Amino acid sequence: MNQALAPLLEVRALSRRFAGRKIFDQVSFTLARGEIVSLVGPSGCGKSTLLRALAGLDHDTQGSVLFEREPLREPSPRVGMIFQEPRLLPWLSVADNIAFAAGPRAGDDPRVAALLAEVGLAGVHDALPKQLSGGMAQRVALARGLFTEPDLLLLDEPFSAVDALTRARLQQLLLTLKQARGTTVLLVTHDLDEALALSDRVLLLSPAGTDGPSRIARELPITLQRPRNPRDASLDALRDVLLTM
Ligand SMILES: Nc1ncnc2c1ncn2[C@@H]1O[C@H](COP(=O)(O)OP(=O)(O)OP(=O)(O)O)[C@@H](O)[C@H]1O
Ligand SMILES: [Mg+2]
Repeated sequence: MNQALAPLLEVRALSRRFAGRKIFDQVSFTLARGEIVSLVGPSGCGKSTLLRALAGLDHDTQGSVLFEREPLREPSPRVGMIFQEPRLLPWLSVADNIAFAAGPRAGDDPRVAALLAEVGLAGVHDALPKQLSGGMAQRVALARGLFTEPDLLLLDEPFSAVDALTRARLQQLLLTLKQARGTTVLLVTHDLDEALALSDRVLLLSPAGTDGPSRIARELPITLQRPRNPRDASLDALRDVLLTM
């Protein structure tokens, strides 16, 4: 197969146990280059665990993760991860946090100023994380995730801790950055409207519980052009499908 047409990421038959209890099982999907895919599912079904496995941060997950057809077993600069909380190091400046992948005091790297401008934070280069609002800190985390110019960005509920207006702006920022860079995005979200507004496809995980481990219960393509009107009738129909699962 032509390399350009091969999936960027292939996830094959992943399963994960904690203390003998299987959380998810036989999770398989692919991500095409440039796609935005959302992963939704009830709390505790293993979304964060799955994302950590895809970032090479968990060595106890069974199955395989292929990045450009090569097994991905360790964290890679080509795969960026953005956590639910910004997780900035409080003793480092914003700039040093963003450039942390290049060393603990690499904030003078010229890419930092460009990234700060890209996420709309040009003035806070030397600020400390405690001086930022929640939405600003989340934008710094986004800039840090982009610093290594990853091909794949994994986001774990990145906008859940900010107000609705900031969330809408951050969603727009993600789309703009994705458009400019061609980054492939896998987004974990609790918010169906966020998934419907942003994604090319939604993967719905079933609950993990007494009925057994979580699996991919449904895969929904969303072909509606962006920018999308959240009140578009075709999104209503997709929302109904997700809610009745
Ligand atoms: N290190 C761990 N040790 C034991 N159990 C764990 C560990 N990490 C996660 N779990 C369990 O695995 C399950 C899935 O957790 P995970 O955080 O991946 O869920 P989630 O889908 O991200 O949930 P949420 O939507 O609430 O963030 C939960 O039952 C959780 O208690
Ligand atoms: Mg989680």
